[in-house]
Amino acid sequence: MRIGILTSGGDCPGINATIRGVGKTAMVAHGMEVLGFHKGFSGIPAGSYEVLNMDKLSGILHLGGTILGTSREGHIGKALLQDEAFANEFCEAYHRLGLDAIVAIGGNGTMKTAKIVSDLGLNVVAIPKTIDNDVWGTDVTFGFDTAVSIATEAIDRLHSTAASHNRVMVVEVMGHHAGWIALHAGMAGAADVILLPELGFDIEVIKKDIVERAKAGKQHSIIVVAEGIEINGKKRPGHRLSKILSEETFLECRETVLGYVQRGGAPSATDRNLGTRMGGHAAQLISQGIFGVMVRMQGGALGHIPLSQVAGRLKVVEPDNELIIQGRRMGISFGLPRE
Ligand code: F6P
Repeated sequence: MRIGILTSGGDCPGINATIRGVGKTAMVAHGMEVLGFHKGFSGIPAGSYEVLNMDKLSGILHLGGTILGTSREGHIGKALLQDEAFANEFCEAYHRLGLDAIVAIGGNGTMKTAKIVSDLGLNVVAIPKTIDNDVWGTDVTFGFDTAVSIATEAIDRLHSTAASHNRVMVVEVMGHHAGWIALHAGMAGAADVILLPELGFDIEVIKKDIVERAKAGKQHSIIVVAEGIEINGKKRPGHRLSKILSEETFLECRETVLGYVQRGGAPSATDRNLGTRMGGHAAQLISQGIFGVMVRMQGGALGHIPLSQVAGRLKVVEPDNELIIQGRRMGISFGLPRE
């Protein structure tokens, strides 16, 4: 068999571990030939690929980013749906290249495109990746653990400077529409206030909570805000919140937007092993002729779920998440009145 691996959407730590997991399992366990397509799905019609042999997959486990390159490609999915000539060109390229299956490594956008490609009759196995942890159908995505560790370390560092200056530090973390990174890094970094898009917030409650802390002798506070929060209908919540709190309380505030550092660099050991396992599982599925599915982790066990159940759905933080409940029990503010 000959398979093609591609990486699509925003990068994250652990992609190379996954490419290696797919490729080495495909070659060693199943004697498959492995091609790596450049810059996502567009690499297939463009015929832009390299042969991934054992040599090419060596020494990449610990590397951040993706050796294959990636891009945001919602337009490809749209074109495959709306432009029959392009859809035919895509399928012809797949057959011309002698592919028996595609392994698509990506986030929510990739799952949508993978489903479209699968509906065209091509064999696809997808693997979920994103720092946001928001892919439906899997308990966890690789990249998340590393991003949470990076954000937690940054919050740890902000505690000491916040304490020295008696300041309120507002830390904006990534996560797109979901609050997974904010929740996990906020709790691990001992934040005093954690704001998640899924819960919403009341600015008066936030003001009261940090002012009460200051009056009780805790002059400094750490507020972790997910980038998906909008303030007065506008993005960039870290900046806006810091401004409002500076203007409307007696406290001095500063903001830190962590941004792309959360996505860059070496993956954690957990993400390396998750990517390796998920990649290996994708190769196993192909060898069994199971297609049109996404590899998933559920209750600690690897499995798969049809792409039709995943595409277009988002996994967000539920209000009864155990970490939120535990945070509330300890007096951590989630920006809403306490029950
Ligand atoms: O999906 C990962 C992510 O880093 C989000 O957390 C963030 O909102 C988005 O990608 C940034 O997208 P881009 O790479 O297109 O700037």
